[in-house]
Amino acid sequence: MDLSVKIKDKILPNPVGVASGTFGYGEEYSTLCDLNSIGAIYTKAITLEPRNGNPPPRIVETPSGMLNSIGLANVGIDKFVNEKLPWLKQHFANVVIIPNVAGTSEEDYCQVVERLEEIDNVWGMEINLSCPNVQYGAIHFGTNPYMVEEITEKIRMRTKKPLIIKLSPNVSDIYDIASAAQNGGADAVSCINTLIGMVIDTNKCRPVLANKTGGLSGPAIRPVGVRAVYQVSRIVKIPVIGMGGITNADDAIQYFLAGAKAIQVGTANFVDPQISNTILTGIVKWMERHNVESVAQISTLMRDY
Ligand code: FUM
Repeated sequence: MDLSVKIKDKILPNPVGVASGTFGYGEEYSTLCDLNSIGAIYTKAITLEPRNGNPPPRIVETPSGMLNSIGLANVGIDKFVNEKLPWLKQHFANVVIIPNVAGTSEEDYCQVVERLEEIDNVWGMEINLSCPNVQYGAIHFGTNPYMVEEITEKIRMRTKKPLIIKLSPNVSDIYDIASAAQNGGADAVSCINTLIGMVIDTNKCRPVLANKTGGLSGPAIRPVGVRAVYQVSRIVKIPVIGMGGITNADDAIQYFLAGAKAIQVGTANFVDPQISNTILTGIVKWMERHNVESVAQISTLMRDY
């Protein structure tokens, strides 16, 4: 059975990755699950300077999901390169590490990418043009196809590693944004990031999150993610990585049938740190039941009525 996934000229060992922002820098989960069996670890978004993120409260549970407004809190590129990546290299040399990159300006993104380009245990990069919880950058680039194409082109000039653009669902036509990423030179797109939402505390008569709004994730958004992958994968030629509310193998298979070549598990990691391993086992069992020999083949089974 072939579980591998090709992106650009490189191979992921299996299609089940863990999503940025739900898995720290990998180290936090190293005693809770088998990192070696994860297809790719997408680390928490990294920026040029360290960030404290938004004031608390910055997480609230919702029906079948959660709303976060972390605000890209992270250690900054220096500490990431000097401490987090060396630790991963020392303990998990063979695990695919894909840092998620964010910034407030094009120059920020480019500088972070240039630093990561030099590091051998960075497999590729996922560019965050979709975090909805910041005043500048991220989603403010990712909702405009012209800006997406321009920033992707600039980043492309600075890396030969696989370049993945992470898309926001908070747009009218996600396939236009995906096309812009492809035109700019992206090797893949990942979709979807969170949907913007709000929860109000009816006793205090104010939003629960200090930032007022946040990004909705978890099973509640899965149909939105599956729809986005279905639409995007019919427009672009580059691989689509699907995510949004995947909690079990059946959810993952929906994404593959929709056209995803790989998936990411996000919010479910908070419930069960071993869930990505369990999902991979379930995918293999599904493939056996359906006589499918490769993950790439799953999408060919999709019937459009
Ligand atoms: O607020 C946050 O740090 C979220 C980031 C993201 O959705 O990419």
